[in-house]
Amino acid sequence: MLNRVLDYARAHRDEYLKDLLEYLAIPSVSAQPDRARDVKMAALWLSGHLHEAGLRAEVMPTAGHPVVYAEWSGPDHHRPTVLIYGHYDVQPAEPFELWHSEPFRPVVRDGYLYARGASDNKGQHLAHVKAVVSYLRAEGTLPVNVKFLIEGEEEIGSPNLSAFIAAHRDLLACDCVMISDGALFNLTQPVLTYGLRGLVGFEVQVRCLDRDVHSGHYGGNVQNPAFALAQILASLKDAQGRVTVPGFYDDVRVLSAEERAALARIPYSDADVMRETGASMAFGEPEFTVNERKGVRPTLEVNGMWSGYTGPGSKTIIPATAHAKITCRLVPNQDPAKVIRLVQDAMRAAAPAGAEVTFNDARGTPASLVSLDAPQIQAAARAAAATYGNPPFYELEGGSIPVVHDFQSLLGKPIALLGFGLPDDNIHSPDERFAVVCYEKGIEASIRFIAEL
Ligand code: BES
Ligand code: MN
Repeated sequence: MLNRVLDYARAHRDEYLKDLLEYLAIPSVSAQPDRARDVKMAALWLSGHLHEAGLRAEVMPTAGHPVVYAEWSGPDHHRPTVLIYGHYDVQPAEPFELWHSEPFRPVVRDGYLYARGASDNKGQHLAHVKAVVSYLRAEGTLPVNVKFLIEGEEEIGSPNLSAFIAAHRDLLACDCVMISDGALFNLTQPVLTYGLRGLVGFEVQVRCLDRDVHSGHYGGNVQNPAFALAQILASLKDAQGRVTVPGFYDDVRVLSAEERAALARIPYSDADVMRETGASMAFGEPEFTVNERKGVRPTLEVNGMWSGYTGPGSKTIIPATAHAKITCRLVPNQDPAKVIRLVQDAMRAAAPAGAEVTFNDARGTPASLVSLDAPQIQAAARAAAATYGNPPFYELEGGSIPVVHDFQSLLGKPIALLGFGLPDDNIHSPDERFAVVCYEKGIEASIRFIAEL
C-alpha cells in the first residue's frame, strides 16, 4: 500500500508542481491591506483544491483573514486523527528590484522554484495536501483521519487564531499535530524541532515638532527626532551585542553543561552564518556560541526605521517625527507582556529632552518547547529517516510559530515540527525559493508519516 502511494506521487510530480506554481502566483500578503482580496483568493484556491481531492473543505471567517479547514474521516472510529497546520499567507515581497524573477510569477530555475511563499509556507503545506491526495487517488482511502488547518495570518503574528481554536475545539480535536514550516539541515539530514522562540513587537514614534520645518531657519534650536530615536535605540545594546535593558535577561534559564554540550554538537558555526547572510562576521553576545544565541538566548532587533525625506536629491528639513519597528525573540520562561514593558520603559528613560515617545501595535507570543517522546513524534522521526536517509537532528529553532503555544494550551496534544525546506531558501528575503526535490521529498515524508501513524 505504501509503495503504491509513493509510486502514485512520483508518477504525478509534474501535475503536483504545476498546482504549486498556480498557488504561488496568488500574492497573499497578509500584512498589506490592499492585498486582502488576494489573501481571500488563496484561501479559496486551497479550499477548492482540498474539496476536489475529496475532503470536506471550507473557508471559515475570523476577525481577520479567513482560515481554511478541511477534513477526511474514515468509516471506523478507532483510527488516529492528525491535524496538519500551515499558513497560506506570505511575507511582503518588497524590495521587488532585488528579485531575479518576479515574486508572484513563479518559475523553476536550476531545480529551484522561485516565488514569495515557495518555502514559507505554501510549498511545505501543499506537500502534505499532495500526500493526502496521493493516498486517496491511489488507494481510495487513508489509514488515519486527517484535518487541515491552514491559516492566513501567521506572518502577522496569528492575532485571531487562538480565538478561532478556542471556539472550534471539537472541530479541531485530534491525537497529534504536524507542522512543516522550517528547514532540513541539508537534503540528507532532517531536523525535528523541539523548541521555538517567542516574539514580541511594537512600533515606536518619536515626535519633536508639529511638522517638518526648514533646517536652516530652525537648525540648532530644536531637537531632531531622528537623532533622538538614534540615541534611544543606541542605548538598548552595548557594543558587543548584549541587550542593556534592565531586567531583560532576568527570567532566562541558565544553560546546563549538558545543554551546552548538546548544542555544541550541531555542526553550525560562525562561518555558516557568514556564508548564508553575507555578513562579514558573526555578531552577538560574546559569551555564547551561534547555536546558543539562536536557540536559547533572547534578542532585541530593529526591523525598520524611518524619518524625514528619503526620496531623490535633498530636502533641507528637520523632520517632525521618527519611527521604528522593534521586535524581541523570547526564550522559554520569558513573559511577553513583561518584556514589552521593560523595553518600553528603557526607551522612555533614554529619550533626550524635547522628544515625545509613544508606542503602538504591541503584540506578543511566548516561546514553546515540545516534548519528543510521544509515539507520534517517533513516527515523524521514522518517516524522516526513511525519506532523507538519516535519523533527524533534534534542534531549537530561532524563529517563531505563534500557534504552537495556542495548540499546547488549547489542544494539549503532541506537536511534530518537521521542516521540508533548506536553510538557504531565502525565506522573508528576495529570491525566496523551494527546491523541487524538497517538495517531492516533503510529499514522500508526509506519506510515510501517515503510514507510520
Ligand atoms: N516559517 C517561519 C518560522 C520559522 C522560521 C521556522 C525559520 C523555522 C525556521 C514562520 O512563517 C515565520 O516567519 N514566523 C514569524 C512569526 C511572527 C510573524 C509572529 C517569525 O518567526 O518571524
Ligand atoms: Mn514566515
